Amino acid sequence: MRTATITIHPAAITHNLNQVKQRAPNAKVLAMVKASAYGHGVKAVLPALQQADGIGVATFDEALEARQLGWDKTIGLIEGVFYADEWQQAIDYDCSCVIHHAPQLEWALDNIPKMDSPTRQVWLKYNTGMNRLGFDDNAIVQVAEQLHAAGYQLILTTHFANADNRDHPLNAVQIQRFSSMLKLLQETVCVEIKGSLCNSAGIVNFTDYHYDWVRPGIMLYGSSPVNNQCAADLDLRAAMDFSAQIMALQTLNAGNAVGYGSRWTATKETRIALISVGYGDGYPRLFSEGAYVCIIDDVRNQHYSCPICGQVAMDMIVVDVSDIPTDIGLNSKVILWGAMPQVDEVATHAGTIGYELLCRLSARPKRI
Ligand SMILES: Cc1ncc(COP(=O)(O)O)c(C=O)c1O
Repeated sequence: MRTATITIHPAAITHNLNQVKQRAPNAKVLAMVKASAYGHGVKAVLPALQQADGIGVATFDEALEARQLGWDKTIGLIEGVFYADEWQQAIDYDCSCVIHHAPQLEWALDNIPKMDSPTRQVWLKYNTGMNRLGFDDNAIVQVAEQLHAAGYQLILTTHFANADNRDHPLNAVQIQRFSSMLKLLQETVCVEIKGSLCNSAGIVNFTDYHYDWVRPGIMLYGSSPVNNQCAADLDLRAAMDFSAQIMALQTLNAGNAVGYGSRWTATKETRIALISVGYGDGYPRLFSEGAYVCIIDDVRNQHYSCPICGQVAMDMIVVDVSDIPTDIGLNSKVILWGAMPQVDEVATHAGTIGYELLCRLSARPKRI
């Protein structure tokens, strides 16, 4: 049977969560599991996140899935609800919501949850420079006052636009705005107001600004969130192996072109392997020079990097195996991403980011 396979390693996720906790020992952790836990599958991931204080999702359906799987701690809806009746559903399912614009404020003021409801805790979104969601300086104090007066407990929150690049000038601006506003709200509205600033890159790069809640996503799954350190530098472990197998072998003569568009031509006699994966599985179609896969040699306990040649197709890719032992044959395991190559490397060769590759895997690969 054809096997493109996604294998999830819950122990790696727990390890990565512990890395977060070591880096941010005084903060609570809202572990981001939106977009099907960055493509890893919420069901596979939740058991590994038992030591997190809560999870973060982007849609109410994602929250519902987590509740149905038995998650009984905090669920943060990081974009809040989209309709007034969804606010009631958020109350029914004990979700804690972001409030980022006036309609959400109105729904929250019109329908105040019971005293002991987790929905009484809201994440008040402050626009510090990302300029997508959130109240600006002119509105935020008044919104905080209204919510506080209605009995809500507030977490002031914002999101970095460039935290992956430590030296980007906007980081200092966002940090400054956030810390001053938090201080102001604590002094003028309620001393108990909490703060939440950092995603993964913020956790790594801005250790003095972890505040009360950190919101790690990508680093839980073993990818580096910063542009100057790789996953191994940060002691993060890949939580996903994406693998396939050799489905056929061929020898090309010099001058033979391979694949759609005949884009790659052998310059000498070349042994190629056809690998049972393609863009129909979520493997990226467009690659720059240098993209490779790792073929596993179980007999010698070795792995070999083999360059991709030709065009990625829906169901197969072609790699050059001229330089590996000839007894590595049909059905050998091929790692597309995992410990090596890391998804970030694959993404760089495909002109994208690891986040996208993880999230856009299709339903076809087998999941373990
Ligand atoms: C509001 C918010 N917080 C935290 C995160 C997690 O970010 P990362 O995966 O970079 O850690 C995201 C992800 O997009 C987000 O939107």
